[in-house]
Amino acid sequence: SMVRISDDALAKAGGAGEIASEIERRGYQVDRVSSWGMHWLEPLIEIDGIGWGPATPERIDEILDGKAPDICIGRIEDHPFLARQQRLTFARAGRTRPTSFDDYRNHGGWAGLLRARSLTSDAVIEEVSQSGLRGRGGAGFPTGIKWRTVADASGSDKYIVCNADEGDSGTFADRMLMEGDPFALIEGMAIAGHAVGARHGFIYVRSEYPDAINKLNLAIANCTGFIAPFSIEVRVGAGAYVCGEETSLLNSLEGKRGEVRAKPPLPAVEGLFGCPTVVNNVLTLAAVPHILGEGGVRAYDALGIARSKGTMPIQLAGNIKHGGLYETAFGISLRELIYDIGGGTASGRPVKAVQVGGPLGAYIHPDQFDIIFDYETYTGADALIGHGGIVVFDDTADMGAMARFAMEFCAAESCGKCTPCRIGAVRGIEIIDRIRATEAGEGRERDRLEIAPQMHNARKTARSREDEVQLLEDLCETLKFGSLCALGGFTPYPVMSALRHWPDDFGK
Ligand code: NAI
Ligand code: SF4
Repeated sequence: SMVRISDDALAKAGGAGEIASEIERRGYQVDRVSSWGMHWLEPLIEIDGIGWGPATPERIDEILDGKAPDICIGRIEDHPFLARQQRLTFARAGRTRPTSFDDYRNHGGWAGLLRARSLTSDAVIEEVSQSGLRGRGGAGFPTGIKWRTVADASGSDKYIVCNADEGDSGTFADRMLMEGDPFALIEGMAIAGHAVGARHGFIYVRSEYPDAINKLNLAIANCTGFIAPFSIEVRVGAGAYVCGEETSLLNSLEGKRGEVRAKPPLPAVEGLFGCPTVVNNVLTLAAVPHILGEGGVRAYDALGIARSKGTMPIQLAGNIKHGGLYETAFGISLRELIYDIGGGTASGRPVKAVQVGGPLGAYIHPDQFDIIFDYETYTGADALIGHGGIVVFDDTADMGAMARFAMEFCAAESCGKCTPCRIGAVRGIEIIDRIRATEAGEGRERDRLEIAPQMHNARKTARSREDEVQLLEDLCETLKFGSLCALGGFTPYPVMSALRHWPDDFGK
């Protein structure tokens, strides 16, 4: 029989490696494949298409005998969590050995690059534009227009930079793609190189992803000749959230301090080492092979709604029963995602809030759960899709503390270049503490202060709660409109959404 177990970091953290060795010791051959993305079932053992999970070493013999019905999920492909998805970017998830060139080719890989090379650069850019693909890092900028800008920019050296500094809370799609299907990213970068006239690419990966780094390096070594004359190098970040911002990332790649650069000039015109540079997220680049290859432009454009075309690999995380990777066309509602697909909270308690789009995304109240996944709909609701991470909280969450955390996060991760973010975030923590201290447990709040004990003097001026809230709102406006990048600019979203929807958690 054919036994398959994922070697994704999440499966390994659950003991997949030990289980695989135990099964091999019993004389079976075990293929280490990518993860299907059903995290609550990992480690998942697949035998001839049938799945058992979560598996433990003690139950291996039962599972090999086809018993253990309580953890048997039947045919994996037919599992409702998978059957309802539209997997394009993650089409090979669960099916291939991540660094096997042949597995990739036998499952539709390289068709996009081969076809792209039979077309002119212009034709490739035209197809990417037609597909409607937008930047999956969060900003949703049209990929075709970005590539066109780079292709038209003057300069003999151009670069493709992949932003793999996946730092948002609750996100793991970049990691899963790089660990599970690294050739998809490599192929997307090679197509981008052909399209804009770049011969070299860099993948900037966060250091917290050692498995992704290893697999990318192995995969690159396994296809060097095939993608030539295009070449790719992996560069490892050093743990700063702001290095996910594209200009800060470029500084870091150049060996400089990860400080944000003012735009213009856009990286597309003057990017890495001053050369025209495509900076795209992992998921953006990994969507390209399908568009150029088997899928085709029209099929991609036909999915989704309005200006949000194609699919989004959504990540369900936090306090959720069925967490994992859920790739689907744009247009799905939060309610479906959280209840029908995610099964509600893991704790079994009521959902209180969900944060979509990372630590700078708005907290969304259950009253708003009919909101559909679409860039413009979220923007209209003062929220953001970001990188597609959804973090669920149950009714034990303290949203005032979450708002404070957003300000703390901004203060800790600020690159320091502009005042609203560098100093405003610290003032924000103080104001939130004062708001929360006005009527409830002042002493308790005082114990929690970490940053600015001198604020107790400020408190003597004793502003009313209303005045403090007004001050917080003004500060958030300043952050939103006065910050140079999204770190300062988006911190108001979690803060203001928490204050608006859960005033009780602010000592009211
Ligand atoms: P942006 O809107 O300034 O730019 C988006 C992209 O389009 C950039 O790559 C920019 O260089 C490019 N671009 C803009 N105009 C262009 C033109 N005319 N030609 C060619 N390229 C052009 O957004 P930014 O600052 O890059 O990112 C902000 C977004 O990032 C936010 O909307 C937020 O949703 C998202 N975000 C993502 C996070 C994550 O970790 N994934 C964290 C925080 C925010
Ligand atoms: Fe740096 Fe913050 Fe300004 Fe962004 S908003 S440039 S992180 S100081």
